[in-house]
Amino acid sequence: MKTVIITGGAGFIGSHVVRLFVSKYPQYRIVNLDLLTYAGNLENLRDVENAPNYLFEKADITDPVALDRIFSQYQPQGVIHLAAESHVDRSISNPVAFVETNVLGTVHLLNTARKHWGNDLSDKRFYHVSTDEVYGSLGDEGLFTEETSYDPRSPYSASKAASDHFVRAWYHTYHLPVVLSNCSNNYGPNHFPEKLIPLIINNIRTNKPLPVYGDGQNVRDWLWVKDHAAAIDVIFHKGRVGETYNIGGNNEWKNLDLVQQMCDIMDDLLGRPAGSSRSLITFVKDRPGHDRRYAIDSSKLQNELGWAPTVKSGEGFRETARWYLENEKWLEHVISGTYQQYYAEQYQ
Ligand code: NAD
Ligand code: TYD
Repeated sequence: MKTVIITGGAGFIGSHVVRLFVSKYPQYRIVNLDLLTYAGNLENLRDVENAPNYLFEKADITDPVALDRIFSQYQPQGVIHLAAESHVDRSISNPVAFVETNVLGTVHLLNTARKHWGNDLSDKRFYHVSTDEVYGSLGDEGLFTEETSYDPRSPYSASKAASDHFVRAWYHTYHLPVVLSNCSNNYGPNHFPEKLIPLIINNIRTNKPLPVYGDGQNVRDWLWVKDHAAAIDVIFHKGRVGETYNIGGNNEWKNLDLVQQMCDIMDDLLGRPAGSSRSLITFVKDRPGHDRRYAIDSSKLQNELGWAPTVKSGEGFRETARWYLENEKWLEHVISGTYQQYYAEQYQ
């Protein structure tokens, strides 16, 4: 049986990756390694927690002793590394936490994999999941390719850029069999409601102002989270060692247009008069260093490995809004903080 450690598996994207791997690969043992920070929520994985090929390990990637114990115990052939501090606004107020987790944590993980795998590397793979934000900010034209120079501008993107460099350094220096991907903004179920789309859905639900930073003209490319999980699956299994693949939704939206779209979808789902949620839109002070536009050229991944996004934005946004309305308990637990008791109840 092959063992794969997925770090950050209790988070937004990680939980979709864990679910996909646990159900699609019953012959794999999937170890979810997660510290359960504020962003880690095991309620995301209720449906797979009793699967025979799933295990959870509460551990900190910045703790080399814990990593050593976990690698000794499970002898993994693969690592899919998603654990990170992931919110740009938090990185502006507390950058050190981002250096610790995203940079130091990644280096400890690389070191541990190297130590345990030694020279026996033929069936091993270290997959580092990263972001398009490392490439900086685009003007009205152009797309990020895998050749675009790194130009991170927020403490979050700087920490992810640093982690990407360390992963490539372990490939070149120690021949660790790595693969990387840089993905655009994800959306879908289980997204923590500090990020734009779930925050807007929740505020419409509770009739609160909808904060739009600056002039609302910043552009993001939005990818359905399960399409990202599918890309991670194909890159983990078929991506060439040492390579980087860009992942994108081909789905650019100005923030204001996106917020208005969510308003219209929510009015429809909640049976409110058309246009009523738009009146909640409030322009607020811009994020410092706010990147203007991200857009991805994912043709390498599409041509080489045959992946493509499957969900059209209209359908995905509606499906997301519906999920939050049908899972109010999940949302209430996150907002009240009670989701953090779930580990104690379930595992101790
Ligand atoms: P998230 O914040 O929802 O989840 C992060 C997870 O990592 C949480 O479960 C948290 O408990 C865990 N974690 C944090 N610090 C840890 C530590 N020290 N040790 C162990 N676990 C720890 O993040 P996400 O949005 O799911 O993003 C996952 C990955 O994908 C990140 O590496 C992020 O940079 C990358 N990414 C995210 C997006 C996006 O749109 N969300 C886009 C591209 C890439
Ligand atoms: P976010 O979801 O934080 O993702 P990222 O900063 O990683 O792209 O934000 C998406 C966009 O929405 C970004 O341009 C910032 C903007 N934004 C708002 O206008 N209001 C908000 O309340 C938030 C959280 C984000």
